[in-house]
This record gives sequence, structure tokens and C-alpha cells, in this order.
Amino acid sequence: MSDDSRPSPSGARTAVVIPAAGRGVRLGPGAPKALRALNGTPMLIHAVRAMAASRAVSLVVVVAPPDGAAEVKALLDTHALPGDNPSGSWGMTDFLVVPGGDSRQESVKYGLDALPPGIDIVLVHDAARPLVPVDTVDAVIEAVRDGAPAVVPALPLADTVKEVEPTAVPGAPEPVVATPVRARLRAVQTPQGFDRETLVRAHETVTDDVTDDASMVEQLGLQVVVVPGHEEAFKVTRPLDLVLAEAVLARRRLNDGF
Ligand code: CTP
Ligand code: MG
Repeated sequence: MSDDSRPSPSGARTAVVIPAAGRGVRLGPGAPKALRALNGTPMLIHAVRAMAASRAVSLVVVVAPPDGAAEVKALLDTHALPGDNPSGSWGMTDFLVVPGGDSRQESVKYGLDALPPGIDIVLVHDAARPLVPVDTVDAVIEAVRDGAPAVVPALPLADTVKEVEPTAVPGAPEPVVATPVRARLRAVQTPQGFDRETLVRAHETVTDDVTDDASMVEQLGLQVVVVPGHEEAFKVTRPLDLVLAEAVLARRRLNDGF
């Protein structure tokens, strides 16, 4: 059965680009971060499953480490879900693998370049956020369908944030410049959702270094909106995050009763 058999209510077709080409320097030495295991399954596979869990998602484009595309393709094949088609699709979701670049931005661009015609909505989701719940994915897609050109899931901050004048010397005291009002700040997660044409234009236009895709759309002068994120959509960045991720998986298994 092809994914065309379940068009979205709006008729829009949605793809997800998963940048997974990073090394994971902050996690410490080892395999590229996306390929490291959480409870025995590579982080990337958790992330792909989280996206494929949304009925609206018809295509997942994985942006693999530059020299790891074949390995990633093999991983997707060996971790196929029950009821899959023989090749190139997972259940009702097709997938593609492309090699990534030197920066996250470049990797996302390569993923966008691989999108076929007929995709109207694009989500960009970090492989490093393997545990995002499907409800968050669906909420982002819904907000794009409702007309927002760019949608980001985000949470209020627990910590107060200071803007500083960074010093060149590591560990040296840094002068505080400002304290933004915490209640107005949000910590941004992924998947971020976009009207495809808008995101492609943003990647063609903006050349500054950015840390998320939505900020490129902001630079086009378009309105980006925030929807509620989820605490389980945290990014696995440092070793302690692996402990938290495995604890979340253990809690899920308990709750699912197996
Ligand atoms: N990413 C990518 N291509 C790059 C760099 C990063 O696709 N050249 C991806 C990562 O694989 C990750 C996401 O972008 O899924 C978010 O980046 P980050 O958490 O910073 O991951 P890494 O860059 O791998 O980690 P670090 O910065 O600690 O090296
Ligand atoms: Mg990085």
C-alpha cells in the first residue's frame, strides 16, 4: 500500500528531515552520536520511529554522517518494523538516506535537496532528540497546516538566563550584560515544522551560522510561532543525558506493561 492511500485531511504531504551527521563531541569519544545505543537500539532508530509514529508523516529523510550513509541504510533495514514493505519503506512511511555536511545547517540543506515533489510540509528533527512523543510531532504539523510558515515546540525555562560578555580565557569570570525576563523566554526543541517553500527559501537566503532552522525563517521577516514542547523531547548532548534517556525508556516500558 502506498502512503498516498492516507492523505492528510488538508491534502498536504509531510516529510521529516533528520540531521544525524554530527560527531557528538560533547558526548565524548565513540561512534557518531546518532549511532550510539539507547537500551540497545541506536538513537537514530528511536528518532526515526518517533517520526514514523505520526500518521501524517509519509517520508523520512535521514542525513547520515558523511562516510556513514551505507551503515545508516543498513541500520534502517535491520530495524524495520513489523508489516514493512520489502525495501525503502517502514510501514506506511518511506525513507531516504543522504550524506551530511560539516555543519548542522549544511546537513539540513542536503536533506531538503533530496525531497521529492509533492511534499508541502517539512519537519526538521534532531536525531539527538530520540524520545519526542508523537503528540508533539502532530501538534507541530497541525500548526503548520493551520497556516503558520514556521512552528517550533518549546518549553519555559527552569533556570534564569544571563547574557554575558564571553572571555577568551576558559573559566575566567565573565561580566554580566543583561538578565532577560525569564517568563518571556522559551527553550526550543525539535521537530520544527515549516511550509516547504519557506524553509527552502530560508536555506537559500540565510548564510549566517544559526543554531536552529526557525531563526533562518525569522531572518526572512516571517512570523515564527511556538507551540508547547515536551520534557521528553530533550536533546541528548552530554553523558548524563544518556542516563536520563535510558530512564525515560525504562519508565515507558513499565507503563506499557512489557
Ligand atoms: N548534525 C548534523 N550535521 C552536522 C552537525 C550536527 O546533521 N555537521 C546533527 C546532529 O547529528 C544532531 C543535530 O544536528 O542530531 C543537533 O546537533 P548536536 O546536538 O550539536 O549534535 P552533534 O553536533 O553531533 O554534537 P556536538 O555538538 O556535541 O559535537
Ligand atoms: Mg553540534
